[in-house]
Amino acid sequence: MPFNHLLLEPFNPEQFAATPCYAVAGNPIEHSLSPQIHSQFAKQAKINMSYFRIKPEINHFRQTVMAFFEAGGKGLNITVPFKLEAFAMCDQLSQRAQLAGAVNTLKLENGQLYGDNTDGVGLVRDLIAQGITLQNKKVLLLGAGGATRGVLLPLIEAEVGALMIANRTLEKAIDLVNLFNAKAKQSKVHLQTASLDQFGAFKDGFDLVMNATAAGLTDASPISTEIAQAIFNPSCFVYEMVYGKTTPFMRQALQGGSRVSDGLGMLVEQAAEAFALWHGPAVIPDLETRSVLAHLRAELSL
Ligand code: ATR
Repeated sequence: MPFNHLLLEPFNPEQFAATPCYAVAGNPIEHSLSPQIHSQFAKQAKINMSYFRIKPEINHFRQTVMAFFEAGGKGLNITVPFKLEAFAMCDQLSQRAQLAGAVNTLKLENGQLYGDNTDGVGLVRDLIAQGITLQNKKVLLLGAGGATRGVLLPLIEAEVGALMIANRTLEKAIDLVNLFNAKAKQSKVHLQTASLDQFGAFKDGFDLVMNATAAGLTDASPISTEIAQAIFNPSCFVYEMVYGKTTPFMRQALQGGSRVSDGLGMLVEQAAEAFALWHGPAVIPDLETRSVLAHLRAELSL
């Protein structure tokens, strides 16, 4: 199956042969910031590469990925809605991708498709860069979908003290606790669950509250005003995984006097980890992720 008509940038077969080519695949993909981020990393690491956006048709993801690699493509970033399909088609997976049940980075290695998930480490690096220490902290993670599953292992490995997963559908939070409990015990992390209407669960307060629900994409907050008033205060750091706007959840946190971050730093940090997976760990010291982030914020007024 040809894929060149799915590229948003002009396709030149000679370029594919002459330059290592990478891309981000998603649908929609028009507004992806990944090309800007990766081209800045390439400059910093002095690596000659091209980076495209690919928009696979919803039912043709697998064929598009195969065609990209058959044409000589070296690596792909995968975004919504294809992370689960990418997971399903890999020959090999990193441990963190296995536990996340989703893949956001692909590379071809000795003819085998290798899948990784760099979202969680991206989140943890962004938090650390913003001065947040995680060890022994009380953390509330809202949501129990793919985004939550992707970040649980690195949060557990960062040895947060207690981690409450609160979800509209309680059963899904319980499923995640069952899946991650062995890892949590190894790191002495106390995993708990709550449903979003269980007000009492939120009364004791948290050091860090993160929104990993899909509510951030719509114009709604996952939590009621009552719960927001109970948990947000000036000593709480609040993280919204989406970027590009001040969501209702962020507004609730600001009203409570909390320090608030969007997820743009997570996007940049997960991209750096993907870049290092493709080009080798030796590039890591060259990547100035925070200057890439500052550049994006200035350029896009984010
Ligand atoms: P993603 O891969 O983005 O995490 P997902 O797997 O569909 O997407 O999960 C979406 C998450 O957002 C779920 O935790 C969902 O709650 P349910 O499990 O109860 O469906 C949560 N979510 C979506 N919209 C929400 C809303 N308006 N309020 C609260 N939670 C919401």
